[in-house]
Amino acid sequence: MQIFIDTANVDEIREASSWGCVSGATTNPKIMSQEEGGYSFREKIEEILEIVKNPVSVEVTAEDWKGMVEEAKEYAGWDKNIVIKIPMGSEGLKAVNALEREENMRTNVTAIMATNQALLAALSGASYASIFFGRVSDMGYDAAEVVRQTAELFKLHQTETKIIVGSVRSLMDINRAFLAGADIVTVPFKFLKMMTQNPKTEATIQEFNSIWKELRESGAIKLETTKQRVTPTSLSFVRR
Ligand code: E4P
Repeated sequence: MQIFIDTANVDEIREASSWGCVSGATTNPKIMSQEEGGYSFREKIEEILEIVKNPVSVEVTAEDWKGMVEEAKEYAGWDKNIVIKIPMGSEGLKAVNALEREENMRTNVTAIMATNQALLAALSGASYASIFFGRVSDMGYDAAEVVRQTAELFKLHQTETKIIVGSVRSLMDINRAFLAGADIVTVPFKFLKMMTQNPKTEATIQEFNSIWKELRESGAIKLETTKQRVTPTSLSFVRR
């Protein structure tokens, strides 16, 4: 079970990475568009890689497989932790086959909405298959069932492809995706932050801390030891 962060925002990535529970990052063209313009794509990805030091997915935008392979080669040359995000489809599968089996690159097949798409991605050699939980739900289907069936089939046939669940729209999506068998859920920072918080947790910590403050201020509890320390000097009379 792993959590990736679904953003290109360096401040968010730095903060979440410092918690020690984030094992990778995913980006896409829409995510890149949410950052303030005028930046170098390569420098932004390199900055992310420097913080994450784990797989970072970078998406190709070419629409034919040869174009995807060319774009992939350029991005993969930037760092060993780059995973090439390839859109699901027949052109995408050709690119995955070439990149994984001939170029020894890792791919993440993206925009998967159905179990049979995930199966094709796996059989073409993809390292990751990204199921879009929120977008599957938008179509009126049970996204958890898509993840559950995919996970069951991958397990039954000992498929090494890892299931990433993306397109997270609520905290419940994260729980449901992991319960359904997702290997990884990629989570926007907003939800990661919400996962750390709970009003009852905060109230409980506040309660404990104010009790402790009162005990310390009234002198009922001291930090320093009340026992006399046994030192060689204090023992010297025993020896005599
Ligand atoms: C992650 O890999 C996806 O690109 C991302 O989660 C898609 O999210 P969206 O459906 O909110 O655009």
